[in-house]
Parts: sequence; C-alpha cells; structure tokens
Amino acid sequence: MSKPADRHDCATTGPLFSRNKMKLGVFGLNVSSAGAITTSPDRHRISWPQNVRLVRMAEEAGIEAAVPFARWRGFGGATNPWGESFETFTWAAGLAAVTSRIALVCTVNMMTMPVVAAAKQVSTIDHISNGRAVMNVVAGWMETEMKMFGVGALGHAERYAQGAEWMEALTKLWTLDEPFDLHGKYMTVEGGFQLPKSVQTPRPPLMNAAFSATGHAFAARWADIAFISPNPDKPESAVEQVAALKAKAAEQGRDMQVWVATSIAGAPTSEAARAYVEHYSGALIDREAVENFTRLMMGGTNMPDEQKAVMLRHVAAHIGGYPLVGSYQEIADKIGALADAGVDGLCLTWMDYERGLPDFIGNILPLMEKAGLRLPAGTGADA
Ligand SMILES: Cc1cc2nc3c(=O)[nH]c(=O)nc-3n(C[C@H](O)[C@H](O)[C@H](O)COP(=O)(O)O)c2cc1C
Repeated sequence: MSKPADRHDCATTGPLFSRNKMKLGVFGLNVSSAGAITTSPDRHRISWPQNVRLVRMAEEAGIEAAVPFARWRGFGGATNPWGESFETFTWAAGLAAVTSRIALVCTVNMMTMPVVAAAKQVSTIDHISNGRAVMNVVAGWMETEMKMFGVGALGHAERYAQGAEWMEALTKLWTLDEPFDLHGKYMTVEGGFQLPKSVQTPRPPLMNAAFSATGHAFAARWADIAFISPNPDKPESAVEQVAALKAKAAEQGRDMQVWVATSIAGAPTSEAARAYVEHYSGALIDREAVENFTRLMMGGTNMPDEQKAVMLRHVAAHIGGYPLVGSYQEIADKIGALADAGVDGLCLTWMDYERGLPDFIGNILPLMEKAGLRLPAGTGADA
C-alpha cells in the first residue's frame, strides 16, 4: 500500500507543504472589515501598499500563505463590511511579483468564472511566482453577489454539481497533454487544452472551504486542503471533524490537509484580550451590519444548525472564524490543542491586521516554536 504522501495528485513541494506541524495563512487581507463587524476606527481598511507590506511581513516570519476572500459586495450598516475588496487573481499576481517564498492563493466562486480562463490565470501566477500559486475554490453562498453574476438561482446541491464539472475541466486543463471534450449538464468544453502547464507538477494545490456534508464530500474528492469549523464551546469537536474529513478523503484514495479559519485576539493577559474584544464588538458593534449579515447567511449555506447558532453568537467579534482569544500563552495552547486534534493549518484573521499580524509574529509565533508547532523562520521549513 502506498504511503499517504504518495497519494497526493498535486505538487507537494510548495510552501503549503512545509515541515511545520501547524501551517499558517494570513486570511482576508484583501477585504475591508474582513475579521470583525465593528465601527472601531481601527477596523481593517485596504490599500495596495499596505497589502504588500503585510504580506511581506508574513513571508519574512515564515508564514506559509496569503489567502484572500473572493468578495464582490458588502453588507451595509454603518461600515459596509467587506464592501471594498481587491479581486483575488490580480491580487495574487501582483503579490507574486514582489515576494519570493509565500504561497499566493487565488479564491474563486466556481460559478462566477469560466474554468478555461481561471485555469490559465492560476498557471500564469504559478509562473510569475515560480511555483507558489494555489487555488481556493468555493461554491458560494452570498445571494447578493451571485445575483450580480446572474447565477443566484442555483440551489446548494446544484452549485456543487456544477463545481464537480468545473473541477474536472480544471484538472484536465492543468494536466492533460491532449485536448479533451467535456459535455456536462452545466458546461461544455470542446477541445479544451492549455499551455504552458503550471510550474508545479502535476498541478498546483487546491483548497476548498466548505462546511456542509455536500461540501465536505466535494472537498474529499478534489481538494488538497479543506476546512473544518470546530465548535468554540467544545474545542474537542475538532478531533471528530478532522477524522471524519480525512476518512472521506481516504475513501477516495486521497490525502489532504485539514485547516481551520480563525479569528485572533491576543494580549499580554487574558483579561486585556477579552476587554479588547468586548470593546470593538460590544460598545462599537455595527448592529445593522450584523443583522444584515445574519439574514444573508441564513439564506445561503447549508451549515449544520449547531454551527450556525455558534457562528451567529460570535459573528461581530469573529466573522473571520474560530475565536482564539486570550493571553499569548493561552492562544498558543489552544493552537496546540488543535494540532493535537490533527489540524494541519490555520487561516488567521484579526479585527485590526496592522496591530494583529505583528503582534502574532512577535508574541505567539515564538511560543508556537517553543511548543514544537513551528520551526523558526529561515531554518528551512519555509525554504
Ligand atoms: C478559508 C475560507 C475561505 C472562504 N472564502 C470564501 C470566499 O472567498 N468567498 C465566499 O463566498 N465564501 C468563502 N468562504 C465561505 C465558504 O466557502 C462557504 O461557507 C461555502 O461557500 C458554503 O459552502 P457550504 O454551505 O457547503 O459549507 C470561505 C470559507 C473559509 C473557511
């Protein structure tokens, strides 16, 4: 029987396959108010020079990836969170030219872009970056955005059925040496072919960020990196979720990494961290935007009910994901617990990236190194 490492059908030499036990990605840097729904003057605002500076800072610290949100609309209220965003393929291409080690992820909702164009765009970014391109495919959930593309009517299961055709075409464009035809229910590709292929062979890595049973079945079939969403009130739920997802992939003879999207609020003491979160998401909450988001989200995903309830409770403070709040040591310990549960990587968001990223690098990364979760930057893990 082959070793798990042999079962990848993607390149495994890029930054996302570093030797670090817990890999890291800066998440949502390209989107305004990516990590919290707040009127705080320190909420995340975007500019190109700032995105370049923070991605370089992450790269310097050995962080494996920059992972953007694919966003097209905000959701109103006083601050219109997510209302400003850089498009992910052009964002990754620009960053590829000014960085040298970090993986650059392009996120795409599979219904919004013709697969022939998307395949070649990622391969082009793979050439610009010399083998650091990654594609994150999502099936979409935000109705206002999908309506902009004229695809708002497709139901949840159908979106994944369309996605399966899209992925079949994508992987064929990336790997086949002969033209192919695909006559699917949702798309037709005649004489599909692409040159040049990517730098990464046989193809760049694929992420899929879904939480529903249908989404996880899709991820197990196609993705090299997939996500779970542990219940923050029951961190031990990660163990079962990781095992279930990896078992699904193993059924297909595939191996995958399992990641968690997180929302970080660290401080020297637990009390200071909690007070910080309470301030930006309590006193300074953008309530109307929270209500708008809640309505949008309830309509769009097939998240399990328990997870929906947890998410709504935490949404203003931690729209970016699983809350990691506390002293630096508490956060490092919580990350250690996720690693023990089998989690391979974390996407990181903050309310304020300008404060949060250097704070994480300066205070939490060294504790992760001490705990054996990461090797120091520049020692070869990220080379
Ligand atoms: C790391 C990560 C990245 C995501 N990026 C996007 C995104 O860019 N655009 C988007 O519409 N949804 C994004 N999502 C949300 C999921 O893709 C969304 O929950 C999914 O489309 C709904 O699938 P599901 O109902 O099968 O869980 C992201 C989620 C995670 C964890």
